[in-house]
Amino acid sequence: MSDFIFTSQDDSWELAMNELLSYLSDSELMTWLVRGIGIMRSPLGFSEVSQQLLKNPPIFTRHIFPLDHVTPINGWESAIAQTISRLRPKSSFNVQVRILDPTLYAFSKFDLTQWISEELQKGGFWPDMQTPDFIVSIIAYNFAMYIGLSEPSQNMSSWPGGMRRFARRDDQISRAEFKLLEALEVFSIDLSSFSMPEGQVQLQALDLGAAPGSWSKALADRDFFVTAVDPANLSPLLKGNKNIVHYPYAVQKFMSKDKKSYSLIANDMRMDVGNSAKIMVSLAPKLASDGIAVMTFKLPEKKPLAAMNKGMQILESGYENLRAKQLFHNRSEITVTGNRKST
Ligand SMILES: C[S@@+](CC[C@H](N)C(=O)[O-])C[C@H]1O[C@@H](n2cnc3c(N)ncnc32)[C@H](O)[C@@H]1O
Repeated sequence: MSDFIFTSQDDSWELAMNELLSYLSDSELMTWLVRGIGIMRSPLGFSEVSQQLLKNPPIFTRHIFPLDHVTPINGWESAIAQTISRLRPKSSFNVQVRILDPTLYAFSKFDLTQWISEELQKGGFWPDMQTPDFIVSIIAYNFAMYIGLSEPSQNMSSWPGGMRRFARRDDQISRAEFKLLEALEVFSIDLSSFSMPEGQVQLQALDLGAAPGSWSKALADRDFFVTAVDPANLSPLLKGNKNIVHYPYAVQKFMSKDKKSYSLIANDMRMDVGNSAKIMVSLAPKLASDGIAVMTFKLPEKKPLAAMNKGMQILESGYENLRAKQLFHNRSEITVTGNRKST
């Protein structure tokens, strides 16, 4: 039996809970710390829970960690001593701390991380942010600390709470760029892996619902020639960008004129899920056999699951290897990827 902490977007707490209850038989929700951070109990050990979820990845659950100790916040030293006693000697660690109610405490997330790291180093372990052997995950909430020890691959995301952060840049057009960058990472999409179609000198990408243009810019920066389709204007920052051509029409009008094929079709259109999926299916023949489609499903407030399932069902007629996930940078939406269905 194990208790584990799971996280999702605040608004998707119910969807995340229900998918875990259905994926892990006989599991039960113990409590919510806050919306989007819950404690689940499973008759399985944490390694088995993790294996099952890695094999059949949930859509709305972003991150999990085992709940090994719950301790009053001022008892953290003895809880960490117990944690250390379970660590394999001579191993490296990373400490991931989240404080859900920071104004209550006289210390910061960084103080707590540092204290715990120092204790671990006194015990002969060494910090490694990139490839640690173990992650010590901690949530501080309501004067209690929730502590767990796991291997990085078991947590579903290497970021605390699955909250993938990217640094903002001055030349950034909008935060929507992070959605694409996170999707490339989460779905292991290697943009340099596509083969160059015969007779072409540059890989082609189609970006539907491109305005103001942050996805187009991210792809153009990675040497794609981007056909950006959106009746709305692209950012003036993209004026003169030789890797982007803008078609200022709705996609329905563009489709009847377009003759090209693409290594990547991106679709972030604000549109009903079913209609958007149908457009993707009619564009599937334009996708190279080793190409990939990346799209967002804008989920309605009412019956989001029904809309999602309908969208996935429609996509299945043109795509295979479909994967779906609510990313940290998705709000009321999920990101879906797939390859053209082989004939
Ligand atoms: C969330 S924004 C896209 C943001 C974009 N991915 C970026 O990175 O800047 C959604 C866009 O979908 C566009 N859109 C909605 N319906 C469309 C249609 N029928 N054809 C093309 N674009 C459409 C809207 O004009 C809007 O600019």
